[in-house]
Amino acid sequence: MQTYHIVTFGCQMNKHDSEHIAGLLESELGLEPVDDLRRADVIVFNTCAVREGAEERLRGQVATLKPLKAANPDLVIAVGGCVAQHEKERLFALLPHVDVVFGTHNVAEIADLVRRAADSRGRVAAVPDSQRRDLEATPSIRETRWHAWLPIAVGCDNFCSYCIVPHTRGRERSRPFEDVVAEAERLVNDGVVEITLLGQNVNSYGRDLYGTPRFAEVLRAVARTGVARVRFVTSHPKDLSDETLAAIAEEPAVCEYLHLPAQSGSTRVLTAMNRRYTKEQYLEAVERAYAAVPGLALSGDIIVGFPGETDEDFEDTLDLVRRCRYDQLFTFLYSPRPGTRAATMGDEVPRDVAQERFDRLVKIVQRTALEKNLALVGSTVEVLVEGSSKRDAAMLAGRTRTNKLVHAPVPDDADPDRLVGTLVPVEVTEAHAWHLVGRVAGYQHR
Ligand code: SAH
Ligand code: SF4
Ligand code: F3S
Repeated sequence: MQTYHIVTFGCQMNKHDSEHIAGLLESELGLEPVDDLRRADVIVFNTCAVREGAEERLRGQVATLKPLKAANPDLVIAVGGCVAQHEKERLFALLPHVDVVFGTHNVAEIADLVRRAADSRGRVAAVPDSQRRDLEATPSIRETRWHAWLPIAVGCDNFCSYCIVPHTRGRERSRPFEDVVAEAERLVNDGVVEITLLGQNVNSYGRDLYGTPRFAEVLRAVARTGVARVRFVTSHPKDLSDETLAAIAEEPAVCEYLHLPAQSGSTRVLTAMNRRYTKEQYLEAVERAYAAVPGLALSGDIIVGFPGETDEDFEDTLDLVRRCRYDQLFTFLYSPRPGTRAATMGDEVPRDVAQERFDRLVKIVQRTALEKNLALVGSTVEVLVEGSSKRDAAMLAGRTRTNKLVHAPVPDDADPDRLVGTLVPVEVTEAHAWHLVGRVAGYQHR
């Protein structure tokens, strides 16, 4: 075994876990990464189960590996993440070429599992419900030098009725306050410019360890490590405290950006979703956030076509979306997940009705997002350069503190590679719904 390739689906937590998988395969097995999956001796799929589509894509991709397996009997194919945790050993029957199945609590054991599968040329599975080795204490290879994911809690206790995550990630477990801050300090020493704190419900951070939530406190402590930017996902509206909003407003490093998923604008649907807030309470939280944080950008998630959603319920969602003036909205068609409560509710919304609602919703957000971006034309925003634009190498691509994508021509005489990971002022010249265009108003090579 010499080389590996990792395919990552799903959320930021999976991206973070994949960075540890890379670290472990390199440090414990001496493997090297390859871009071309067909040249890898070890292929790892880190999977997501949140919607059906993600599972289907996995099945499709693994099926295409059959000829590789035939050509190289030593090839080890490992499947981890949320699908693996949910399906457990059943995955071997569903995906016949797979050698290793490892759950979300066993990421730290990946090197050992791969070695055992390679030595025995047999199938190896590890999917218990508890952790045997602390993942955070293992090596990690970050995707970029300048950004780091920092989990503050894993798992979720909320059990929204549609959601698989509490089943695949287990109950909420916070990491000790001191560990989080020490890791942030280490990252800053390592040159990290932006840290994203991760948790399914960051607002309740610390409740399991300390009896009361300590999110605002940990956010402030991380912001004071000297890092340029701190972000966090995801906030649950029922737990959004004034202390957290004050930390966003007052700590210079904390970005003016809040991802606050509503899921629906109908109180009746929200109750069936077990979200534990009403439409009015959500709107109140949004107004509180806008009032507390000048320049705040707001994003959210909406699920369209939840069981029993009527036209009237959906009108409530449209009303909520208009009133929230979102900068960005992630919209999803409801996908029944076996094992969740919503999957047994019946009363399905026909696919074409849900699709039509979905399209209407997207049009509305496009309008509010464009309006908000138009207001930025002429102003200067701070952009963290991420690289060149995918479509045009002469264009830099980066993000504002408010998480907006910005494109700007590479300044004359500048070396784009040496701008990656730096903060540059950009004067906004053009606004689109999902990105801004501007001119770099000064730079310093790294
Ligand atoms: N912990 C985060 C969300 C994690 S899942 C939170 O509570 O906000 C990310 C998003 O996927 C959710 O916000 C929801 O909008 C969507 N989602 C989750 N389960 C879904 C399902 N069964 N069908 C469609 N969308 C779903
Ligand atoms: Fe899923 Fe709800 Fe937990 Fe988010 S808060 S992970 S939507 S159960
Ligand atoms: Fe998907 Fe698991 Fe994340 S289901 S969204 S990868 S926690």
